[in-house]
Amino acid sequence: MSKAEIGLIGLGVMGSNLALNIAEKGYPVAVYNRTSTKTGQFFENAGTLRENIVPCSTLEELVAQIKPPRPIILMVQAGKAVDEQIAVLRDLLSEGDIIIDAGNANFRDTIRRFEELDDSGLTFIGMGVSGGEEGARHGPSIMVGGKEDAYRRVESVLTAIAARFEGEPCCAWLGEGGAGHFVKTIHNGIEYADMQMIAEIYGILRDGFGMSAPEIGAIFRRWNEGRLNSYLVEITAAVLDADDPISGKPVVDMILDRAGQKGTGRWAAIEAQMMGVPATAIESAVAARSLSAEKPLREAAASAYGSDDAPAATTPDARFIDDLELALFAGKIAAYAQGFAVMGEASSEFKWNLPMPTIARIWRAGCIIRSQFLGTLAQSFEADSAAENLLLIEDFVGMMREASPSLRKVVSHAALGGLPVPALSAALGYFEAIRQRRGTANLIQAQRDFFGAHGFERIDAAGEHHGPWNSGLGG
Ligand code: ATR
Repeated sequence: MSKAEIGLIGLGVMGSNLALNIAEKGYPVAVYNRTSTKTGQFFENAGTLRENIVPCSTLEELVAQIKPPRPIILMVQAGKAVDEQIAVLRDLLSEGDIIIDAGNANFRDTIRRFEELDDSGLTFIGMGVSGGEEGARHGPSIMVGGKEDAYRRVESVLTAIAARFEGEPCCAWLGEGGAGHFVKTIHNGIEYADMQMIAEIYGILRDGFGMSAPEIGAIFRRWNEGRLNSYLVEITAAVLDADDPISGKPVVDMILDRAGQKGTGRWAAIEAQMMGVPATAIESAVAARSLSAEKPLREAAASAYGSDDAPAATTPDARFIDDLELALFAGKIAAYAQGFAVMGEASSEFKWNLPMPTIARIWRAGCIIRSQFLGTLAQSFEADSAAENLLLIEDFVGMMREASPSLRKVVSHAALGGLPVPALSAALGYFEAIRQRRGTANLIQAQRDFFGAHGFERIDAAGEHHGPWNSGLGG
C-alpha cells in the first residue's frame, strides 16, 4: 500500500533537510537518491522522523510508495540532472502527477520544461527555495511558479514546511511558468548586492580606519537593532566576532578574499540587461565577486599601483558611523528598487502579473535577505501597488531623502581614500540619475546622429531630426 503523500528525489544538503522538514510536519515522504548509500545514511540519521520517511532504492519503488496524484519534489543539481530525472519520471508517472523542481533552475529552463511537459498529462511546478540549509530544515521562503490549480493541490504541504512571519507562511504562488524561479533569481541578485554593500562598509572601517574585526562586528551588532535589522547584518556581526581556533585570530582575517558564486546572481544581472532595466547595484556586486576571484591580477595591480598599507588605527567619529549606517540603508533601497523594477518588467514581458507586495511578504522570513526593511516594503507596496519604482513610493521618498546625503558622503570618503565601493557607488549613481529632470542623453543622441545618422527628438518640435553636422568626421 502506498504510504507517502509526497516524494523527494535528491538527498544532497538541501534535499535531505527539506525531506526532514516535510516529515517533521507530519507528511509521510518517500525519498530517493541516485547514489543509494546516501538514502540509507539519510534514513539512519533521521531519528524519530523515520516513521514518516519511506526510503526507496529505485524510482519505481518511489513512485509506488506515493499516493496518487503524486507530488514529487526534485532537489537534484540544477541543469542536466533535472532534465534526466524528468525524462525517467515521464515513463513512470501517471496523469495528474506533479513534478516540482525545487532546485536553483534558470527560469528559462523552467519555461522550456513546462513546454516540454505540456501534452504529457503531468503537471510541472518550478519552485524557488531560499534559506540555505537551515531554511530548508526549519522553514524556507518558497516562491512557486506554474498553474495556480497545480499549486492549490500541493499548497498544504508547501505552506506547512515554509517559514512563518507572524504566523503567515512565507510561501506563495507567484505566477505561471518560470515565475517562481525568476523571482528566486532576483532574490539572489538582491542578496549579492546586500552582501557586497555590507562588505564595502566593512572595507571602509577596516582599511580606512584600521579597525579590528571585533570592533567592526560591534558596530554591525548595534546597527542590527535599528533600521538595518536583518539576517545578513546579524550574521555579519557574528562572523566578525568569531575567532579562528587554529591561529587564535579573528577567523574573517584568515579567510582568503576570493568569493565564489554559483551563478544565480549573474543570471539576475543578465536578465536585467536583456530587459533593458538598470540593475547596477546587482551588476556591480556580481562583478565584484568576479574581480575578487582574480587574485593574481589584483596582486599584480597592487604592485603596479600600490595599495594602501594598513592605516594608523583611528576611530571614526560617531557621526561618520551614522553616515555609514544611512549609506548602507540608502544603497539597500536603491538595490531593491532595481530588483523590483526588473521583476516589474519581467512581469509584463512574461505576462506573470507578479504580486509585488506578496513577494516582499514571503521574503520577510526564511530567506537569506529577510529583514525588517522587507516588512516596510510589503506595507508600502500594498498602499501603492501601482508605483512605477520603489523610489517613488512616499515612504521611500522620505527614507531616501534622509539617507542619500550620507550615501554621497560615504562614497566620496571612500573615493578620496582610494577604497573600492562599487556597489554603493552604483546605487548612488542610479539614484542621482533617476532624479535628474534633465539628463545628459541629449549629447549621446547628438553623437549617435553625428556618426550614424540615427536622428534625435527635439525639445520644441515633434518628429525625427538630424543635426547640422558637416565636419566630415562622421564614420
Ligand atoms: P546540494 O547543494 O543541495 O547538496 P546539489 O549539488 O544541487 O546539492 O545536488 C546534489 C544532489 O543532486 C545529489 O542528491 C545528487 O545525487 P548523488 O548523491 O548521487 O550525487 C543529485 N544529482 C546530481 N546529478 C544527478 C543526476 N545526473 N541524476 C540524479 N541525481 C543527480
